[in-house]
Amino acid sequence: MKEDMLEKIVLETIDVPSIPPVAAKVLQLVNSDYTSINQLENIISQDQSFSTRLLKIANSPYYGRGRSIDSIATAIIIIGFNSMKSLVTAASLKDLHRKSGLFEQKHWEHSLGVSIAASLLATETHMLAPEEALIGGLIHDFGKIVMNNSLPDQYRSVIDRINEENISTVVAEDEIFGFNHCNLGALIARKWKLPANLEVVVEYHHAEHYPPFEDSGYETLCQVVQVADAMCLHLGIGMQVAVDFSKIGFEQLGLTAEHFETLLKKLKEDYISQKGQLF
Ligand SMILES: [Fe+2]
Ligand SMILES: [Fe+2]
Repeated sequence: MKEDMLEKIVLETIDVPSIPPVAAKVLQLVNSDYTSINQLENIISQDQSFSTRLLKIANSPYYGRGRSIDSIATAIIIIGFNSMKSLVTAASLKDLHRKSGLFEQKHWEHSLGVSIAASLLATETHMLAPEEALIGGLIHDFGKIVMNNSLPDQYRSVIDRINEENISTVVAEDEIFGFNHCNLGALIARKWKLPANLEVVVEYHHAEHYPPFEDSGYETLCQVVQVADAMCLHLGIGMQVAVDFSKIGFEQLGLTAEHFETLLKKLKEDYISQKGQLF
């Protein structure tokens, strides 16, 4: 679908959320060559709940690396400007998950599971930075939560159709909404000016073929998240769907069937031990 057509339909249908203002400002600042730690700290500190959330993520096993980070300035120094983009994105996504219905809960568990699975795959294959995989996994399906928040009754029909007719989420969404969580998510990622790798993974995590990307790492990120998604659906982390193992594509990541089986077991353990400590 052409981008402006899609945008028109989406804006007529969906209440597109805006990025928290503090997050927008931080993303803009970290992209500038002239930003100081002080400037970033000032902006972030003005928003108490955002600051608290950032510190929680900064102290997660992925960033904290065993030390306790108690101020925004320390977080920026230890984590670095570049990782701030991921951190701020993760903190912004949590805002979309305020509702506490069953779908929202399952969706959050799925996102967390895919996030942990993707970073596990990145660590095992050395094809990608685990942190990039972590945020890619967390964000990949965020279009779904926006559709559900905006039009819960229609989204209920999507879920019913998936269960009753055994069709894929993307097909059911396309039929009921005229667009799906991938193109909606990518549109929001562009509006929010999120980093390009995140926009790409949101748009292409269900694609069978990829367009030529400007950065070859984008394709790896999509493949990692696709495999991580299948692992969680198979294990029933968040949602459960029967997965055709011959189509998972773990060979593309250089994994053998035995290695992949071991990773499935490890993912179950990692999910239980890490889910409370992240985000
Ligand atoms: Fe998806
Ligand atoms: Fe997913």
